[in-house]
Amino acid sequence: MYDFPPLQNDLLLRAARGEDTPRTPVWMMRQAGRYLPEYRALRAGESFFKVCRTPALAAEVTLQPIERFDLDAAIIFSDILVVPQAMGMEVRMEKGEGPVFPEPLRQPDDLDRLLTPDVSTELGYVFDALTAVRRALAGRVPLIGFCGGPWTLMAYMVEGAGSKQFAQARSWLHRYPLAAHELLRCLTDILADYLIRQVEAGAQVVQVFDSWAGLLGPREFATFSLPYLRDLAHRFKQAHPEAPCIVFARGAHHALKALADTEYDVIGLDWTMDPVAARKKTGHKTLQGNLDPAVLFAKPSTIRAEVRRMLEAFGPRRHIANLGHGMHPNHDPAHARIFVDAVHEFSETMRAPE
Ligand code: CP3
Repeated sequence: MYDFPPLQNDLLLRAARGEDTPRTPVWMMRQAGRYLPEYRALRAGESFFKVCRTPALAAEVTLQPIERFDLDAAIIFSDILVVPQAMGMEVRMEKGEGPVFPEPLRQPDDLDRLLTPDVSTELGYVFDALTAVRRALAGRVPLIGFCGGPWTLMAYMVEGAGSKQFAQARSWLHRYPLAAHELLRCLTDILADYLIRQVEAGAQVVQVFDSWAGLLGPREFATFSLPYLRDLAHRFKQAHPEAPCIVFARGAHHALKALADTEYDVIGLDWTMDPVAARKKTGHKTLQGNLDPAVLFAKPSTIRAEVRRMLEAFGPRRHIANLGHGMHPNHDPAHARIFVDAVHEFSETMRAPE
C-alpha cells in the first residue's frame, strides 16, 4: 500500500456508506472522453488502447474532467475490455464501430485459447495509472476503479463486437451452459483479483459495469450474471471491507432487490428505472444515477429542471448523482457543467432549514 495525501472531499464515500452529506455528490459515467476537446486533441496522436496502456496519458485523461468541472470523483481512464485482452484475446477499437474481437469465442473448445493472466504484470499499466492519478489528485476527490461484469465481458468475447441483441452470446448460455459457467467463473476469479489490486494501487471506490445485464431475462440473469456479481462483491469486500463497491446492471429492473441483497454498497440505476420504486426494492442501499444522458442535449433550463426532479425523487440521503448511462461524444461540455453545478446547487438548498 502507498502513502497518499488525505481526502479533502469525501462526499462520495460518505454517501456510499449511507452517511449524511451537506450536498449530493456527483460524477458522470464516461466523464473522460470524446465530448471533451482536450481528449480529442490527445487522442489525435495515439490509439485508444495506447492511451490506456501509457500511465502518464491515462492519468492526464482521467484528470481532464476534474480540472474542468466541480466533480466529486475521478474514474480511472481505461476500458472493461482490457481484461479479455489480458486473457490473450485481440481487441481493436475501430473508429465509428466500437470494439471488435477478430477471433471471438465460437465454441467451448475456444476456451482453451484463453490465458489465466498474472494480473499484476499483464494489467500492471492500469495499476500504475491508478497510482499516478491518486498522487496527482492529491486528495481533491476520491478515485474510482472499475471492471466489467462477468456476463458483459463474456457477451463481447463471444459476440466479437458490440451488438444490439448479443444473440450469439445469449445463445451460448443455452447451447453450452457448462462452458458458459466455466468462462464466467474464470472471469470472476480474474476480476476479483483485478478489483482488489486496483484498491492496493490507489482506487478508493470500485464500480462493476454489467452494461448488458438487461439483455438477459430474469431467469438467465439469476443463473448467469447474479451469482458471479455476488461472488465478485463478496471477494472484494473480504479484501477491502472499507472501500465502497458500486454495481451498475443496466436494464436489469427485475434484479434490483436481488442486487440489494448482495454486498454491493451502492446500486446504480439507468435512466429507465424509477428512483422511488427502486428505493422500495433496495432498502437502505445507496442509489446512484440516473438522469437520461439525452437530457444534456436540451436547453439549460430543461437540464436544471430535470436535475431538480431527479434529486427530489431520490431524496437528500443515500444518493450519488450521475447520469443513467455514459456521456455521449456529441454532448456539449457546457451542458455537463450545468448538470454538475445544478446537482450541487439544488441538493444544498434542499437540505437548508426552512
Ligand atoms: O470516463 C470514464 O468513464 C472512464 C473510462 C471508460 C471508458 N470505457 C473509456 C472509453 C469506462 C468506465 C469504460 C467502460 C466501458 N467500456 C463499458 C461500460 C460502460 C458502458 O458504457 O456501458 C463498456 C460497455 C465498454 C466497451 C466499450 N469501449 C465500447 C462499447 C466502446 C465504444 C463505444 C464508444 O463509446 O465509443 C469503447 C471505447 C471507449 N471506452 C471510448 C472511451 C473514451 C471511446 C474510444 C475512443 O476514444 O475512440
